[in-house]
Amino acid sequence: MTTPAAEPRKRLFIRTWGCQMNVYDSARMADVLAPLGYAPAEAPEAADMVILNTCHIREKASEKLFSELGRLRDTKRERAAAGQEMVLAVAGCVAQAEGAEITARAPWVDIVLGPQTYHRLPEMVARASRAAGTVIETDFPVEAKFDHLPETVAPPGVTAFLTVQEGCDKFCSFCVVPYTRGAEYSRPAAAVLAEARRLVAGGAREITLLGQNVNAYHGEAVAGGGTWGLGRLLRALAEIPGLLRLRYTTSHPRDMDAELIAAHRDLPMLMPFLHLPVQSGSDRVLAAMNRGHTAAEFRAVVERLRAARPDIALSSDFIVGHPGETAADFAATLSLVREVGFPQAFSFKYSARPGTPAAAAPHQVPEPEKDARLQALQSLLRDQQAGFNHSRVGMTLPVLITGAGRHPGQIAGRSPWLQPVHLPGSLALVGREVPVTVLAGNPNSLSGRLAAGDVARSNQPSEEPAPA
Ligand code: 5AD
Ligand code: SF4
Repeated sequence: MTTPAAEPRKRLFIRTWGCQMNVYDSARMADVLAPLGYAPAEAPEAADMVILNTCHIREKASEKLFSELGRLRDTKRERAAAGQEMVLAVAGCVAQAEGAEITARAPWVDIVLGPQTYHRLPEMVARASRAAGTVIETDFPVEAKFDHLPETVAPPGVTAFLTVQEGCDKFCSFCVVPYTRGAEYSRPAAAVLAEARRLVAGGAREITLLGQNVNAYHGEAVAGGGTWGLGRLLRALAEIPGLLRLRYTTSHPRDMDAELIAAHRDLPMLMPFLHLPVQSGSDRVLAAMNRGHTAAEFRAVVERLRAARPDIALSSDFIVGHPGETAADFAATLSLVREVGFPQAFSFKYSARPGTPAAAAPHQVPEPEKDARLQALQSLLRDQQAGFNHSRVGMTLPVLITGAGRHPGQIAGRSPWLQPVHLPGSLALVGREVPVTVLAGNPNSLSGRLAAGDVARSNQPSEEPAPA
């Protein structure tokens, strides 16, 4: 499948919408195409191949896609007039859900591929250039995609993502993921550890494990048969020399098992910030959403996490205006937000996704009501975020330096709670975890200055000197 090195360089442009998993998938598609001679292009006009990696989770995804496809038809024509090819591919969850519509409405698209088939891209590109018409691959192939992907090509940054799990069997009333990403699948622990070691060797210091339901992870154990849960996997990852921080996202409250909570207690490098979507604070709505837990059960999980790791902060996802949500239900959501004190959260207006149970449910909430609830919730969340950021002022925190800041002489990094931190300093600190005294808490970030000393972590590479 590899192409001789003499092949002239081709250019690839990928536009990515949606979640971190799509960002990861886009990087892996670039890896898959690199042996064919594809290098990154700055813009679609300069690209021999364009991939639109789409997200279907909330509304307007297909309108956005079709207007982009309209623009790209013109680009493709202009390139053809200049004697240049442009292979156009639509990938991701809209491709999975609306493949037939894409080929009907945009026949100039060459390839439509779902999230489970991108390891077959080279073969699809070859077929597309041989034949007229669109190549469609949106089945869920039996062979695991991950077994057929090449090793990561591009060097990772200081912070890297690693997909360990995909798909979801939970079927929340509102959600397309079980239909577009398919059933839950976990990568074997040995494959995850090998990829993590490669990322660290390439310079990654923080790894975020990704999965639609990452804490439902149950991958084949490294040895001795059976499977490992996420807690066990994190313990093994924590032993990798040079790796400073671990995170994982996105989790489901039902899958926060004892082993995973114990990992939060025992692993200092497992960062004290957890994205744990709850969606609503009302038991009636949670039941209608088919979430499989009550608000009290969610509160109990939060308590267990706090007992294990007292400095843990939680982020979440909320949907306002799910069919049947009353003013009292929404008030219960606001109470839960206040009580847990989420310092950060994503909130969305419910949008009907075709084919999901909630789309056909009675008692859809009127749009103006959804708008009002969203505004109220976001205003509360903004206040809590500002309050949390302000509460860090005066503290000295370990900050992982990730790159240059906005202004000359400034560097930027992340706090344990994922807050962006800006401080004066040298780029020589990139990749180091350094103590920073917080001087100001802004609405979305912190600013500070380097403090004396070093951050003690058992697996920090010992050859590195302490910061100046
Ligand atoms: N409408 C609004 N928000 C949704 N989400 C998922 N599906 C929908 C929908 N139909 C939100 C959920 C989920 C996040 C990724 O997107 O809050 O946790
Ligand atoms: Fe969608 Fe998450 Fe529910 Fe799965 S658990 S159906 S991904 S919202």
